[in-house]
Amino acid sequence: MNKIEKIKKLKKERNAIILAHNYQRPEVQDVADFIGDSLGLAIEASKTDASVIVFCGVDFMAQSAKIVNPDKIVLHPEAGAKCPMAAMVNTTELKKMREEKKMDVVAYVNTTAETKAIADICCTSANAVKVVKSMPDGIIFIPDENLGKYVKRFVSKEMILWHGFCPTHEAISVEDIEKEKEKHPNAVIMAHPECTPDVIDVADKVASTEGMVRYAKESNEKEFIVATEIGLCYRMSKEMPDKKFYCLSHAICPTMKKITLEGIIKSLETMEPEVVIDDEIIKKARKPLLRMIELGRD
Ligand code: 13P
Ligand code: SF4
Repeated sequence: MNKIEKIKKLKKERNAIILAHNYQRPEVQDVADFIGDSLGLAIEASKTDASVIVFCGVDFMAQSAKIVNPDKIVLHPEAGAKCPMAAMVNTTELKKMREEKKMDVVAYVNTTAETKAIADICCTSANAVKVVKSMPDGIIFIPDENLGKYVKRFVSKEMILWHGFCPTHEAISVEDIEKEKEKHPNAVIMAHPECTPDVIDVADKVASTEGMVRYAKESNEKEFIVATEIGLCYRMSKEMPDKKFYCLSHAICPTMKKITLEGIIKSLETMEPEVVIDDEIIKKARKPLLRMIELGRD
């Protein structure tokens, strides 16, 4: 039996569903029941009637699946697949800031469960503008400063920005995009809002990973430069074989790539590593997460 057949068999035996983020390795995307962005995955996790969720993504995404589904078993095949941006919030400092400023906290979903437990509402790159617009004037926005700056372009509210960032998107430069544009002058430039403001300035379309998939599907254009993690190009090329997608070869999120087919098999066999979160933290983190899901996409 090959690895794919093994996964299919184990999935059936465990009544499991595999959710995978758009940045996952091609072979992992190929065995997934659902592939999407952070918002789509959180929504899918909240709807599933499977008993077990195998989450192929980074830690905060697997935690979100557990928070919306506390009674289900959520397996994260590689516990070391952690988002460095989520680790950039110090909860003691955040609590202090919240008390001093007396402002609500909007937490990007790329945060730990402990951080979400302090937040008033969460957002993803697919609904950050909508979420901030729904809040009173004066908020603390954590942790992605670039996403915060992007939101500020559309909202005239006081926003205190945390100084977090994504190392993968921070490493994408305007020069990288210009080089691609020279090679493919007719290509439309799409960028993720985690990119720096100068990259956002040269983009034709700024969207979450799923937003980019939707935009490319609906567009009459045939070529796209994709300023985000390289994994998204696999999904787009597979789903739109008549179009060309140019990703940047250095735009790799190393932790996203830690999940492998072998890891998925092992976790379904051993039912480990399981995502475990303190009940009190789940109770507190659930509210901002469900508020975000309720608001939907921008
Ligand atoms: P999306 O929610 O757009 O998929 O982004 C998640 C992420 O981690 C981007 O780096
Ligand atoms: Fe985190 Fe960046 Fe990787 Fe997304 S691409 S999971 S923000 S490190």
